[in-house]
Amino acid sequence: MSQKVAVLGTGKIGEALLSGMIRAGWAPADLLVTARRPERADELRTRYGVSPVTNIEAAKTADTLILTVKPQDMGTLLDELAPHVPADRLVISGAAGIPTSFFEERLAAGTPVVRVMTNTPALVDEAMSVISAGSHATEQHLAHAEGIFGAVGKTLRVPETQQDACTALSGSGPAYFFYLVEAMTDAGILLGLPRDKAHDLIVQSAIGAAVMLRDSGEHPVKLRENVTSPAGTTINAIRELENHGVRAALIAALEAARDRSRELASGKKD
Ligand SMILES: NC(=O)c1ccc[n+]([C@@H]2O[C@H](COP(=O)([O-])OP(=O)(O)OC[C@H]3O[C@@H](n4cnc5c(N)ncnc54)[C@H](OP(=O)(O)O)[C@@H]3O)[C@@H](O)[C@H]2O)c1
Repeated sequence: MSQKVAVLGTGKIGEALLSGMIRAGWAPADLLVTARRPERADELRTRYGVSPVTNIEAAKTADTLILTVKPQDMGTLLDELAPHVPADRLVISGAAGIPTSFFEERLAAGTPVVRVMTNTPALVDEAMSVISAGSHATEQHLAHAEGIFGAVGKTLRVPETQQDACTALSGSGPAYFFYLVEAMTDAGILLGLPRDKAHDLIVQSAIGAAVMLRDSGEHPVKLRENVTSPAGTTINAIRELENHGVRAALIAALEAARDRSRELASGKKD
């Protein structure tokens, strides 16, 4: 498979992907970008040395098209692209909630489509990207998508039926951690610490805990038990978390996110 890749609708996620690919060794000459506004196209050319093209030029030239417009803009983009995308091109959708069937119905019969749900840590090369094959995507197409999204973090293949659950876990996941840090920082202020110090303490604790979770190979229960001594401080905090139903709240919250992802995938917008 040739390596000419176009990012169509290069906004926040598209740019994160583009910059990650360049850092990972892709040649800017092999990368095309499209943007709706000329000033955005100029910005991308200046910043990355890539060639801005029209959506139709991208469709005709690139071997792989990565569509990173907002879900509500995807129909319009596909209407423009569909007549120009040869059926042997790989189309990768980075849009939340849109099933591969949406693309397959609009593109030439047999066009391989791969759906990817990434998350905002793509901006710092720590994304979690969940990858599913459409009906015509092969092992080679999946591997190609992994090669691209692997430039900005980890990848995981799942059946498309699990995409809504993954959206709830990793797509929205960073927001839950930001929310926790915000709440814990408020707690630090209540306990008399200045906001900036409370923030630093919580963020570094979060980073340390995340690295331990990733690298120690230990179950989270074991890691927590290791810092929960008899009659100590941590168990007092854990008792309050249980009293306030935090575990149940998290389960309900992720279930609600999964349900909303399903609604969006079925076209319900409000
Ligand atoms: N941000 C996230 O947390 C996140 C996480 C995972 C997945 N995603 C998915 O990633 C996709 C992009 O999200 P984002 O946050 O990166 O959005 P974004 O910053 O708004 O990027 C989308 C870009 O597409 C451009 N665009 C729209 N229609 C176009 C067209 N017909 N031709 C060319 N360019 C067009 C927009 O131009 P303008 O600047 O003129 O509007 C914008 O720059 C979404 O589908 C979203 O579901 C986002």
